[in-house]
Amino acid sequence: MPICSVYGAAVTTVEGIGSTRTRIHPVQERIARCHGTQCGFCTPGMVMSIYTLLRNHPDPTLDQLTDALGGNLCRCTGYRPIVDACKTFCNTSGCCQSKENGVCCLNQGINGFPELEEGNKTSSKLFSEEEFLPLDPTQELIFPPELMIMAEKQPPRTRVFAGERMMWISPVTLKELLEAKAKYPQAPVIMGNTSTGPEVKFKGVFHPVIISPDRIEELNVVNSANNGLTLGAGLSLAQVKDTLAAVVLKLPEERTQTYRALLKQLGTLAGAQIRNMASLGGHIVSRHVDSDLNPLLAVGGCTLNLLSKEGARQIPVNEQFLRKCPSADLKPEEILISVNIPYSRKWEFVSAFRQAQRQQNALAIVNSGMRVFFGEGDGIIRELSISYGGVGPTTICAQNSCQKLIGRPWNEEMLDAACRLVLDEVSLPGSAPGGKVEFKRTLIISFLFKFYLEVLRLLRRMDPVHYPSLADKHESALEDFHPRHRQSARKYQKVDPKQPPQDPVGHPIMHLSGIKHATGEAIYCDDMPAMDGELFLAFVTSSRAHAKIVSIDVSEALSLPGVVDVLAEEHLQGVNSFCLLGQPEKLLESEMVFCVGQLVCAVIANSEIQARRAAKQVKIVYQDLEPVILTIEEAIQHKSFFEPERKLEYGNVDEAFKVVDHIVEGEIHLGGQEHFYMETQSMLAVPKGEDQEMDVYVSTQHPKGIQDIVASVLKLPANKVMCHVKRVGGAFGGKAFKTGVMAAITAFAANKHGRAVRCILERGEDMLITAGRHPYLGKYKVLEMGILKLDNAYKFPNLRCRGWACRTNLPSNTALRGFGFPQAGLITEACITDVAAKCGLSPEKVRMINMYKEIDQTHYKQEINAKNLIQCWRECMAMSSYSLRKAAVEKFNSENFWKKKGLAMVPVKFPIGLGSRAAGQAAALVHIYLDGSVLVTHGGIEMGQGVHTKMIQVASRELRMPLSNVHLRGTSTETVPNANASGGSVVADLNGLAVKDACQTLLKRLEPIISKNPRGTWKDWAQAAFDESISLSATGYFRGYESNMNWETGEGHPFEYFVYGAACSEVEIDCLTGAHKNIRTDIVMDVGCSINPALDIGQIEGAFIQGMGLYTIEELNYSPQGVLYTRGPDQYKIPTICDIPTEFHVSFLPPSQDSNTLYSSKGLGESGIFLGCSVFFAIHDAVSAARQERGLRGPLKLNSPLTPEKIRMACEDKFTKMIPRDKPGSCVPWNIPI
Ligand SMILES: Cc1cc2nc3c(=O)[nH]c(=O)nc-3n(C[C@H](O)[C@H](O)[C@H](O)COP(=O)(O)OP(=O)(O)OC[C@H]3O[C@@H](n4cnc5c(N)ncnc54)[C@H](O)[C@@H]3O)c2cc1C
Ligand code: FES
Repeated sequence: MPICSVYGAAVTTVEGIGSTRTRIHPVQERIARCHGTQCGFCTPGMVMSIYTLLRNHPDPTLDQLTDALGGNLCRCTGYRPIVDACKTFCNTSGCCQSKENGVCCLNQGINGFPELEEGNKTSSKLFSEEEFLPLDPTQELIFPPELMIMAEKQPPRTRVFAGERMMWISPVTLKELLEAKAKYPQAPVIMGNTSTGPEVKFKGVFHPVIISPDRIEELNVVNSANNGLTLGAGLSLAQVKDTLAAVVLKLPEERTQTYRALLKQLGTLAGAQIRNMASLGGHIVSRHVDSDLNPLLAVGGCTLNLLSKEGARQIPVNEQFLRKCPSADLKPEEILISVNIPYSRKWEFVSAFRQAQRQQNALAIVNSGMRVFFGEGDGIIRELSISYGGVGPTTICAQNSCQKLIGRPWNEEMLDAACRLVLDEVSLPGSAPGGKVEFKRTLIISFLFKFYLEVLRLLRRMDPVHYPSLADKHESALEDFHPRHRQSARKYQKVDPKQPPQDPVGHPIMHLSGIKHATGEAIYCDDMPAMDGELFLAFVTSSRAHAKIVSIDVSEALSLPGVVDVLAEEHLQGVNSFCLLGQPEKLLESEMVFCVGQLVCAVIANSEIQARRAAKQVKIVYQDLEPVILTIEEAIQHKSFFEPERKLEYGNVDEAFKVVDHIVEGEIHLGGQEHFYMETQSMLAVPKGEDQEMDVYVSTQHPKGIQDIVASVLKLPANKVMCHVKRVGGAFGGKAFKTGVMAAITAFAANKHGRAVRCILERGEDMLITAGRHPYLGKYKVLEMGILKLDNAYKFPNLRCRGWACRTNLPSNTALRGFGFPQAGLITEACITDVAAKCGLSPEKVRMINMYKEIDQTHYKQEINAKNLIQCWRECMAMSSYSLRKAAVEKFNSENFWKKKGLAMVPVKFPIGLGSRAAGQAAALVHIYLDGSVLVTHGGIEMGQGVHTKMIQVASRELRMPLSNVHLRGTSTETVPNANASGGSVVADLNGLAVKDACQTLLKRLEPIISKNPRGTWKDWAQAAFDESISLSATGYFRGYESNMNWETGEGHPFEYFVYGAACSEVEIDCLTGAHKNIRTDIVMDVGCSINPALDIGQIEGAFIQGMGLYTIEELNYSPQGVLYTRGPDQYKIPTICDIPTEFHVSFLPPSQDSNTLYSSKGLGESGIFLGCSVFFAIHDAVSAARQERGLRGPLKLNSPLTPEKIRMACEDKFTKMIPRDKPGSCVPWNIPI
């Protein structure tokens, strides 16, 4: 939002509505106490979205609340606790308030969650609503009177803000606006700035003059007259939505066809924030190719009312206007004042369609507006208009096709002809930007078919005698999916009633920083105040995938104002490489680049803007090299591998293959995944000015790694370099190694100039440079009951697996939650699904038959006790009413042709262990001060998982003191040296044992003192200990779990324990568009004895939703030259609040004491990711049902992520057969599958 646009406005920030220093706001309190924060980086945005809605609607429905959050992303929580917080503001919490089929959501037969046994052993309450602060609208901030007085006093006159490079003009009357536009015809008219803003920020467009009308009445009119509704161009899309919603309630349906269609599109257009800002005029004039409204405005016969100093005129919204033909466009000095949208007539029908990668808050892949007008009761087409977005450089109108269909009756022959005509007219080349060409072609006619059915249904309603009713099976084509949040339930273990009441272990304690996250007081790296003379560093990265650097010219960059230095390889002589994971890696590269996004130079300037501007001016000349290896297949072809193959063998595979009847062979490809942590890579290096000391504040999971690499680059001993981490705004594995490289360059710059240097990556840069989860290609060959690469939960008597890591010309992938398991596990499950299909069994049956028995041995010969795995599976079957629902799904599928449901259940046996004892060692430092307060420090990083909260629970239990007495400030190499990277689900496990050790040492020392004065306070005991010269400080240590693996023999004990679980998911798919809806998920987990059920449930749910994203919608796209296209939330879609299952239940097994871990707890950070694949297989099940009904037999190969494109194209039908296909090699596709 441009700062000039808020002149005279009062801006309310999250800090403004409440703080820990004054009074926290109920929204802040409830989001924290309902456990709706983990890393907390998204929380202020969530709070403000809810707050804003409550200011406008103090009594909202849950649908309104979740709609208000549709534009907010959270990568940690999985949204369910945020929905819980929202529910507390609704009158009828617990019910979604949108009764389907007239039945309350809480009473929906077999979809209901079985009554939770509250009893003595389990609990379902994670927070106590009764304790919440009430929401009192009278206590809210008022609009500042001084601004009102200022507005009243000021004569309404154009305001001008002039800077060095540009001028901002804010006219306040229409006359002044027209004058300004006449004077500066090329200046854009900024309304919401949601179209112009991104062009300026991301495409480098520069406007020396900007005109921004301020509250001009004529631009905000709403008039209804005989010719329809006239809406001011300045109305926001949210206002347009509200206006249309009111109009459709008042007027008969036949007059509001266009309004209804517009309303449907406005329901999913962007998120609430964008709809509140974006204007109708800005939307129309921008003419984005994927505009959701323009296709409808075109078919609806809308006109635009224009005005300039020369006078008024009207132009139609037609194809010429949409193509920006000068003869049909606004003149540069004209302003769009309003838009006329005619009423529809009797026998006129208008519909809107769209399909996007994600159901909401995602630009459409294809959208469409369609209108037909029939002669009075004769069913003959008199007028027909069809427009599409997303299939060409502009919105396209299929005018010729429509013309040819006039005079025809509305029947199947007409539909067939229409599809062929439209496909011919709206032709899409194989290399069209955005890719997905065959999908788009299919959508073009699938939408047409939906329109055909919709109109048929309406005709029938108007004249049941003459129009046939739709076959029941086809009705399902017409229902749209709506996100709903119904019931969600948790069941966790209650603490043992014998546990002392002050012992917090086992209780759902809120995240230590929860309230601070919600008030905006939690400090992240970039929140740290600027240091005196601080500089900013921006990277210049390679734009080629494999090339020799011929020259680097930094002269222009250096000549720009504010630029202090440009660092390249030559400046880092002798220190430009560092051994990461055993492989030396260069920090900056000036000779040869191996991927797009490789770091080449670093520009250092006085400000961020100056550094970024200069970075764009560094000129690099490349000479391209061969080969460019981008895909796994290309790597295999070139034998481009990293290390010797890894091989595991169990049983006798060759013998087994000889004696079986069937052999199933298959393969599955899994795309990568972006971490998409909310806080991008951030660091601040501060030279201390004495003894060459350097402090590095950085968002990392591995402070010691940062310390090492910075010390190496600065040629200093480690004791001169300290790395500090207060908290991290999400990491998921992505803030360990690449972060170190960037921090080292930043520290080098800081050291060279003796000034603090900050480096904060933009989202696009971050995604380009850091890369994420590895894509996998899994090939399998199984004899009926199985062989796999990784066993997951199954016993395979004969197994041989071989793996290669491919070296490509893409940025190196790295750890991402679950590190390899989610990929390998999916290959196993795909293999099982294939085997089941071959044997005519359900995959669940095959899973059950092959599951580990109670006492068993893995393929690397580690003993396991899988009792809890079997129990999770059985409980999940029971809790999800699997058998009943399986039958219901089959019944639904037999009754519906265009919608199919699918149900799938998968088990997980997630191994916990780091590969060596040394990698699992952890340390802690605990101080007791003389006032009795305690400070805990340990080597783990708080990245949202709540490790600090758990550590305080541990200290509180061990020292038998209240939680409030224990404090934790953050992690630093200064307090705990040589800590391992935080990751692998074990941060709390390992550090907890170290904290426990330190506390026990202290308690042992203090026991004589305590026993002398058992009724004393901690203050008394600390003072007495001091007086007796007893140290009040102790380190704690844990050596790490035993871990060994002999790759020669394929035997070992690599893992300490396993986390068991099972998930059952149900989905519904739209076979015509590829959309899917997550109906319900039930998860049962074996968590041992939970230290904090709220945090553990948060980890399971958050990971599940992240896994669901991985397997269904998160798709990375690369150009054939290896450039990552998906570099921001616009292109890369992570799940939103609208994507979570309508019902979402999580349950823990009863406590089990088997493991010798911290209080018998288990690490749950990663295992839930894999359970997200239950959604993948539920979709698989639904697609199989569709294919079976269409007579398609044979193996079904579905790759991950299972996007709308893949779902639609797998549900083959007459439409997929009708579309033209491109011969392989006939065109260069826009993207290549990685
Ligand atoms: C995150 C995000 C998500 C989005 N998702 C969707 C989506 O799902 N579907 C969809 O259809 N769109 C989507 N959009 C696009 C959005 O609808 C448009 O950006 C928006 O409607 C433009 O309106 P604005 O007021 O912000 O335009 P501005 O940026 O203010 O102006 C845009 C252009 O219109 C011109 N203009 C504005 N008003 C007038 C006037 N009165 N007279 C003459 N010229 C004028 C300006 O000169 C400028 O060139 C999304 C945008 C964003 C940023
Ligand atoms: S808590 Fe939402 S992004 Fe971390």
